[in-house]
Amino acid sequence: MSKLIINGKNKLYGKVDVKSAKNAILPLIASCVLLDFEVGFLNCNEIGDVSVMLDIIKSLGGKYRYEGDTLFVDCSSVYIPELPCELSKKIRASVFLLGPLLARFRKVSAVTPGGCNFGERPIGMHLDGLKMLGAEVSGSEHLYLRAEKLTGAKIELPFPSVGVTENLIMASCLAEGETVIINSAKEPEIACLCSFLNRLGAKIYGAGTSRITVHGVKKLTNKISYFKPITDRIEVGTYMLATLNTGGEVEISGANFLHNTSLIKKIYNNTCKISLESDKIYLKCCGVGNGLGFIKTAPYPSFPTDLQSPLLAYACSLNGKTVIEEGVFKNRFAIANELKKMNANIYIDGNRAVINGTNRLHGAVLNASDLRSGAGLIISALGAEGVSEISGLEVIERGYFEIDKKLKQLGADITKG
Ligand code: EPZ
Repeated sequence: MSKLIINGKNKLYGKVDVKSAKNAILPLIASCVLLDFEVGFLNCNEIGDVSVMLDIIKSLGGKYRYEGDTLFVDCSSVYIPELPCELSKKIRASVFLLGPLLARFRKVSAVTPGGCNFGERPIGMHLDGLKMLGAEVSGSEHLYLRAEKLTGAKIELPFPSVGVTENLIMASCLAEGETVIINSAKEPEIACLCSFLNRLGAKIYGAGTSRITVHGVKKLTNKISYFKPITDRIEVGTYMLATLNTGGEVEISGANFLHNTSLIKKIYNNTCKISLESDKIYLKCCGVGNGLGFIKTAPYPSFPTDLQSPLLAYACSLNGKTVIEEGVFKNRFAIANELKKMNANIYIDGNRAVINGTNRLHGAVLNASDLRSGAGLIISALGAEGVSEISGLEVIERGYFEIDKKLKQLGADITKG
């Protein structure tokens, strides 16, 4: 396992560019299974999870290539609706292929997906929704889905799951009749997927709301050559918090600030200056901020669960108390025990973390257990006194492209070990 060595207390200064969102590209790649032509996705990085998803596409018989930062995906030659076990276990997004493969082949075999290890990651909602569209599901660890045909249905989600919403949109695109998804997720990545599919000829209405209607069509025939996914709002938020935690001044280009309003509202006026333009966020830290009070993570547009660990790390160095309630996953506070090694004052009470900020954090030997807690450890190490060593860099690079190079360019004392 490679690691990062960070000598803290350097302020971050300069410009950083953020590209297309990991959690937008992954469902977009899955949706290419519905197409019989190649599409180019602009502004893409070769991050870990995307590479695994592309290897899965290749194992199904599909093809991909990069030309600079444009990712071309061609699923016209996909012929095996069988998801490979080992690769599927590496990422949660492998489950996003169930819907499109079922829509195209009327059958698919798979294993339960992998993903970040923060508690149970069931897929019952995915399977229940696909059953309502006409799928028969058998097996448990090894799943077999069959459908004579897919027929539109009214599906009410018990929870506005991002992946379930995406899976059902892709499955119902080519179903007979109308599908209505009630209590659908409203994340920007959903709207991005629907925009892409509608440009191809799908008939999807209500993206970004809690009620999405899909009128099934026979085939997606509008051959578009290129599509630009939305920027990675979680990566943008991560660099914002890193800037604040080092007292720096950074311009984040490519950012769509409308996707980060929940974070901006929390940090605005808390000893930092922010200016917002259509495709960039400029942030200047003017001193150690105060505790952030109470924050609860919840589905969009509330504060995103994927920024919970980075925010928790930042809160450890503030003047005052912050209470963070994790409202999406059952067990996403793995970062707390690592931060305590740095002298952080954190108390976990069920699904709440109580942080009493102290700006006396010191470097330590740390381990990134998942992507976002790894990002949080980097934020904390950048602001701490002394040297930190963070192992598990591969886990962080699942979603952050060249994070060490980008931070070094901003003035961080960071090296890959
Ligand atoms: C997506 O995961 C993201 N991943 C996650 O980002 C993100 O944290 C999550 O949405 C919430 O925003 C990708 O897009 C690849 P969910 P997903 O289904 O779709 C429960 C990152 O760091 N649930 O919205 O898997 C589930 O356990 C990753 O980039 C069921 O119970 O998340 C969770 O408690 C981490 N049964 C809640 O719903 C199901 O069948 C929300 O999960 C599905 C989900």
